[in-house]
Amino acid sequence: MRLSLRFILPLGIALTGIAYAVVPLVDRLTLQWFVRDLEIRSHTIALAVQEPLADLVHEPRAHQKVLLYFRRIVQDERIYAIGLCNPAGKLAYATVNFPLEVTCPSPGTAPPESRLLQLAHGPLHVSVNPLAAEGEPLGDLVIVHDMSFVQRRSEDTKKYVFYLFAAIAAVVALITVVIAEISWRGWVAGLKRLISGEALLGTREEELKTAPELRPFARDLQALVRDLEAERHARDESQIVWGPAALRRILRQDLKGDDVLIVSNREPYIHVRRKDNVIEIQRPASGLVTALEPVMRACSGTWIAHGAGSADRDTVDRQDHVMVPPERPSYRIRRVWLSEAEEKGYYDGFANEGLWPLCHIAHTRPTFRAGDWAHYQSVNRRFADAVVQETRTEDPIVLVQDYHFALLPRMIRERLPRATIIAFWHIPWPNPEAFGILPWREEVLAGLLGSSIIGFHTQFHCNNFVDTVDRFLEARIDRETFSISYGGELTEVRRYPISIEWPPSALASLPPVAECRARVRERLGVAPDLNLGVGVDRLDYTKGILERFMAVERLLELEPGWIGRFSFVQVAAPSRSTIDEYQSFDARVRALAERINRRFGRPGYAPIVLRIEHYDARQVYELYRAADLCYVSSLHDGMNLVAKEFVAARDDDQGVLILSQFTGAARELAEALIVNPYDIEQCAAALHAALTMPAAERSARMRTMRHLVQEFNVYRWAGRMLLDAARMRHRRRVVSQARESRRGRAAP
Ligand code: G6P
Repeated sequence: MRLSLRFILPLGIALTGIAYAVVPLVDRLTLQWFVRDLEIRSHTIALAVQEPLADLVHEPRAHQKVLLYFRRIVQDERIYAIGLCNPAGKLAYATVNFPLEVTCPSPGTAPPESRLLQLAHGPLHVSVNPLAAEGEPLGDLVIVHDMSFVQRRSEDTKKYVFYLFAAIAAVVALITVVIAEISWRGWVAGLKRLISGEALLGTREEELKTAPELRPFARDLQALVRDLEAERHARDESQIVWGPAALRRILRQDLKGDDVLIVSNREPYIHVRRKDNVIEIQRPASGLVTALEPVMRACSGTWIAHGAGSADRDTVDRQDHVMVPPERPSYRIRRVWLSEAEEKGYYDGFANEGLWPLCHIAHTRPTFRAGDWAHYQSVNRRFADAVVQETRTEDPIVLVQDYHFALLPRMIRERLPRATIIAFWHIPWPNPEAFGILPWREEVLAGLLGSSIIGFHTQFHCNNFVDTVDRFLEARIDRETFSISYGGELTEVRRYPISIEWPPSALASLPPVAECRARVRERLGVAPDLNLGVGVDRLDYTKGILERFMAVERLLELEPGWIGRFSFVQVAAPSRSTIDEYQSFDARVRALAERINRRFGRPGYAPIVLRIEHYDARQVYELYRAADLCYVSSLHDGMNLVAKEFVAARDDDQGVLILSQFTGAARELAEALIVNPYDIEQCAAALHAALTMPAAERSARMRTMRHLVQEFNVYRWAGRMLLDAARMRHRRRVVSQARESRRGRAAP
C-alpha cells in the first residue's frame, strides 16, 4: 500500500500540474475558433440582409419595417442586437437593446475589425459589415452576438479536458504501480542480499540472484556497509570503559552468553610438586598468559591447554578439569596430556625449533623435521578433539592462540562448521620469502584459513600474512576489506594490539614507589641511592639480552662516572631449556654478564645483576617500581608486554622506558626512547640519556604512555575480537535465515 502511494502520489501531482497548464491553452484556442465562426456568420448575415434592407429603407414607413425586420433577425438566440449605421456614420436603425458602448464607424474610414466587449450581462462580439446596393453605399450593418454561449462551452471543455487527464492519470498510475511493484521487490531483495553480504559471501548462484543492474554496485555497497559498521564499532568502542564489566556485558548482550573456549599450549596455572612433596601453583612467564588470564576471569569459559606441570594430573577431576584461579575460582582449565615424544616433536621441535625462529628475524636458523611435523599434526588433532568435547553448543566461539596451533582452526571448522574461530598469532609474521622455506607452508596457511578471523598485533604482520597467502595459495584476496576467501570460506585478517589488564592486579598489594626502591636495593645488597636499570624476559635469544649487556658495557666505557653508580638487574625466566639453542644461549648470557662484571665490578658492586630464575608478578612489579629505567631490547617481538607492564607499574609517573624499534609495542609507546638494539653506541647513549633525563620530562613521557596503556588495555583487545565475532555471527545468522526462508518459499 505504501509502495502504491509512493508511485501514485507523484504521478497524480504531475498530471494535475499538466492539466492546469493545458486547460487555459485549450480555452484560448476554442475562443479563437468561436470568434472566427462569429465573424463568418456575421458576414453571411450581412450578405443575406443586404438586398432586403436596400428595398426596405426606400419603402414608406421604412423605419417601422426595418425595425420589424431586425427584430425577426434577433430572434436567433445568439444574436443579441443589430443596427444599421447610415453612410454619414449615424445609427439609423437599431434593436432596442443595441448597446450604447457600440458606436458607428466615422464616414470615409475603413470598417473596424470585429471586437469583443465585456458588459455587465456578459461578453459580446461586435462586427461591422459595410452594405451597398447598386454600387451605392447603404451604410454599415452592426451585428452584436451574445458570447455567453462561448463561455458556457469553454467551461464544459475545461471540465472534459480535466476528466480526460484524470482518466489518463489513473490508467498510467495503475500500469506504473504494477510494473514498479514487480521491479521494486526485485531491487529490494537484491539490495538486501548485497547488504547482508550474501551475494559476495555466497556462491556464484547467489550472486546471480541479485538484480543485474545492482551487481556493479555490489562491492561499493558492501564496502560502504562495512565502513559504516566499522565506524559504528569505532564509535561504540571509544565510548566503552574497557574493563572486566565491559567484557561481561559484551558476552551477555552481543554474544547472548555464547560458549567461549580458549586454546593455548601454555596453561595459566601449573601445579608443580616440590621436592618436599608439597604441591605448588606456578604462573608461567608468558605474555600470552599474562594477557588472556584476566580476560578469561571475566568470561568464565573453558581454557584448553597442555597439562605440563608435574602435579597437574593430581589436581584435575575425572574430566581433566581444574577450576582456577585457586583463590577465587571463576573459570576452568581443561588439561590435555601429551606424551614425551609428542611434546618433543610438537612443542620443542616444530613449534620452537621451526616456527619460532622462522617468524622472528633473530638470525637463528629454523630446523624442520618430518617427524616433528607429524607430531605437530597429531597434537593439533588432539586439541581439536578436546574442543569438540568441551563445547556445549554447535557454534562456540573458539579463541585459538599462537603458533602452536596453526592447523587447529581448520580441524575445528571441519568438525564444528558453525563455530566462530578467532586465531591470534602472538609472534611476528615474516615476509613471503622468509616463510617460503617452510616445507609445509601450504598446509600451515590452509590450516589458519579455517578461522573466521586471524589476528596480529600490527598492520605490518597482517600485510605480511596476506602477501604470504597471495604467494602460496590459490585464494581470493580482497585488500580493501582485508579478507581472504579460500575453499569457499571467508577469513578476515585483523590487527588487534594486545595489552595488559588495567590496573594490574599485582599492583594492589605493593607499597609506594619509595618503599619498593628501598626494599629492592636492600635485598640486592646495594647502596640505597644506586641507579637501577631493569630487564625482565624469558631467557630467549629473540629478547636481545646479549645486546643489552653490551650496551651497558659501552655506557660504562663511555661514561665511567656511572661505574659504581649504575647497575642493570636482569631477570631471565628459564625457558624451553630442553632445546640446544636455548641452553647455549643461557651459557652465553651468563658468560657475558660475568665478563662485564669482572671488568667493571668491585666488591659490593656489580654492573650486571643476573637472576636466571622465575619471578612472580608481584616481584616483577616491585622491581619495575624500584627501577630508574627499564630496557626492552628485543631483536624482534610481536608486541612485548614487559614494556606495557613497566608503564603500568609507574603510578608515580617516573622511570624511563628504552624500547627496541623491533617490538610491536614501539608502534604504540612513542614516548619511550626508541632504539635499534643492534646499534650498541645508540643504546649506550639512550641509557645515559635515561639516567640524566630531567624529572619533568620523565613524567611527561610516562603520563602519556600510561594514558595509552590504560585506554588500550587487554579488555579492549579481547572486547574488540569478541565484538567482531558477534558481528560475524549476526551476519551469518541473517544470511542463513534468509536462505532458509527462501528455501521455504521455493518448496511446493
Ligand atoms: C611467547 C609465545 C607464547 C608462549 C610464551 C612463553 O610469548 O607467544 O605462546 O607461551 O612465549 O613460551 P613457552 O614456550 O614457555 O610457553
